[in-house]
Amino acid sequence: MKRRQSKNRLIINLVTAVVVLLLLYLAFHFQADLKALILRFQLDKVADPDQIIAGIKLVLFGIIAYIFVRALGFLVFGMFRLRKGFDAPTLVRNVFSIVVFSLLFLLIFSFVFPKANLGALFTTSAIFGVILGLALQDTLGNFFAGISLQADRPFQVGDVITVGTQRHTGVVEEITWRAIKIRTFQNHVVLINNSSAAKEPIEVCPRDNLNARLVYFNTLYNDSPAKAIHVVREAVREADNVSSRITPIVRIRNLSESGIDYECKYWLDDYAKYNDTDALVRQRIWYAFRRAGLNFAYPTRTLLVERKHATEKRAGDGGALVERLSAVDIFAPLSVEETGMLAQAAVRHIFAPGETVIRAGEPGSSMFVVHSGRVRVQVNENGRPRIVATLNEGDFFGEMALFTGEPRTANVVALEETEVLEIGHAAMKRVFDTNPDLVESLSFIIGERRQGLATQADAVHGTEDESDGILSAIKRFFGLS
Ligand code: CMP
Repeated sequence: MKRRQSKNRLIINLVTAVVVLLLLYLAFHFQADLKALILRFQLDKVADPDQIIAGIKLVLFGIIAYIFVRALGFLVFGMFRLRKGFDAPTLVRNVFSIVVFSLLFLLIFSFVFPKANLGALFTTSAIFGVILGLALQDTLGNFFAGISLQADRPFQVGDVITVGTQRHTGVVEEITWRAIKIRTFQNHVVLINNSSAAKEPIEVCPRDNLNARLVYFNTLYNDSPAKAIHVVREAVREADNVSSRITPIVRIRNLSESGIDYECKYWLDDYAKYNDTDALVRQRIWYAFRRAGLNFAYPTRTLLVERKHATEKRAGDGGALVERLSAVDIFAPLSVEETGMLAQAAVRHIFAPGETVIRAGEPGSSMFVVHSGRVRVQVNENGRPRIVATLNEGDFFGEMALFTGEPRTANVVALEETEVLEIGHAAMKRVFDTNPDLVESLSFIIGERRQGLATQADAVHGTEDESDGILSAIKRFFGLS
């Protein structure tokens, strides 16, 4: 469609140029006849026939100059587009046409009216210009502000901008002599004078830039931050128009009166659609919360729901702990009552991803069972961490310091949100008293773990004697015979 239009325009311009050139030729060739004709119709009474003919020539030359300027503009700005990859701003194109046309017109004028005093004309036009300038102060202000805006190219058609203290936000549709035209998200058109825009701060979200948005939400204090962060990040990253180039960031903004406040920062492929995308992101968060059993914080409901949860949890948790402990290898030989006793004595602790559960070198009088999540056992070797083992649900750690009385041998760090059950010295002593065989299997495991802790060179020297040594150390420490 556009192509056909420009083809039609080209043909019209060409035909006009040919006709005007022909008329010009006739005007020059039949100048004498034309003069005679003017005299015959007594038009000389109105003006000098030579002046009339010169006027006609001026108009015809003017039309040719106009067509020439358009063709030149087409060429120059066509090359500009080829080189830069985008269209030159309309304002620049218009200024170019006016300047070139004015220069050409002056040349033509002095050619057609050689006797005219251009100096006087300029003087008159200078005075006239001052008067005109004063009258058009605002318009010219807009015009020059428009030129400076175009020269800086701070934004282009298609970008989303927010202008001034009134915060007009919308997609730039056009930048004209007078104003910037933006279409707001309510589909209104707002025109902002170039001169006022030049004075105001403008926030630009370029179309070819990854622009970010923030969406806020909250959870109850009961809901784990690591879980909420993970669940929301995964739900948001798959929403339409959320850029796959950067993973959304979910972080805690505040610990507020009614719950934990979060912000979710995500990047958009098409920023102009941020209202829809914000809404979609909120929707995804709601559904993700539903699936994951997370709760939004409503101050009045929080109190009720919290109490209910707490009682339910306490009642139901004992069974889960017994189940967890009876699945731990070393506790397999224990009776149901003994495991129940251990579960009662166990204290639950929750750790965020990256938190240290126990530190090498510190004293320790308890051991831990991983109830949920994962931990990593690591030691520092020449200033660098060396991973010794990764422990999953049902695995235990911290037994070395507990059973031997020596300091902790390694750092244990949570790899994800991890809940551990801590069992203290007293509870273990009761278990040992009724299950003396447990000491042996534990000393064997500790011996093996020590091998894992040792550097490669040391590991070769690990012997059965060592296991015996551990066995007697445990017995001594727990006062067992
Ligand atoms: P403790 O020394 O009390 O504290 C650090 C804990 O890391 C240690 O007890 C063990 O439970 C655990 N640990 C040490 N070495 C290993 C290993 N090779 N494999 C698994 N766990 C280990």
